[in-house]
Amino acid sequence: MTPPPHEPTQPPQTTAPPQTLGVVGDETFSATLAEMRALRDELQRFLLEYQFALKEVETKIAILRDEFLHMHDYNPIEHVSSRVKSADSLVEKVTRKGVDPDFPSIRAHIHDVAGIRITVSFVADAYLLFDLLTAQDDVTVREVKDYIAEPKENGYKSLHVIIDVPVFLSTGRVDIPVEVQFRTIAMDFWASLEHKIYYKFDRQVPGDLLGSLKDAADTAAELDERMERLHREVRAPVPVAAR
Ligand code: GTP
Ligand code: MG
Repeated sequence: MTPPPHEPTQPPQTTAPPQTLGVVGDETFSATLAEMRALRDELQRFLLEYQFALKEVETKIAILRDEFLHMHDYNPIEHVSSRVKSADSLVEKVTRKGVDPDFPSIRAHIHDVAGIRITVSFVADAYLLFDLLTAQDDVTVREVKDYIAEPKENGYKSLHVIIDVPVFLSTGRVDIPVEVQFRTIAMDFWASLEHKIYYKFDRQVPGDLLGSLKDAADTAAELDERMERLHREVRAPVPVAAR
């Protein structure tokens, strides 16, 4: 149908035209500036909730450490590090895992947006802290991967758990997943180096190097055993006859 002669054929534009926002898989997403800002705010809020959850878990760990020190004059924790995934690495993982690119799907399917690593002195401490943390009333265990009992083929060892922790916002309670990794200093030393080598070779580590890494993991495990034995001997109460 031809428009009447005095009406403009194109309505005047009041909002900015859609822009290409990004590409996920084969799909291209377009949005207006207002939609982009809304999405940015939503992403910031989404990531902030993980930051809050990390604070909750960090506090729990700090309380256990301080109480342990007070009660037993012993600190099982060497150091703690935590991070919230960057937006870039989150988008990479959403694409790699084929997760629907919306916030509820990401929360449901990607459980390491918030991660905390607890480096402990001895293997027994990893299990002790795991037990103390996961026994808490407001902590729900989703998944446990015990790579200490069953190391990965490359020799990787650590105790992983995905927990849900409640975060209380002005809008109510949200339960946020946090990945917690427990490992000894020796395991951490090995994993840091292996991580660097893995990326240096673009995830295609040559076979002989893989073998050397596995050997190094075994050596690290041996060292853990020796140090723990030594520690037990030093801490063992001196028998009366030997005094
Ligand atoms: P992702 O998709 O990487 O999260 O794997 P996943 O969901 O199967 O989790 P998994 O529990 O196997 O690994 C989670 C995290 O553990 C990784 O992001 C690393 O921080 C660490 N990790 C696992 N395997 C290795 C490994 O072989 N070497 C090193 N250095 N770190 C590892
Ligand atoms: Mg993971």
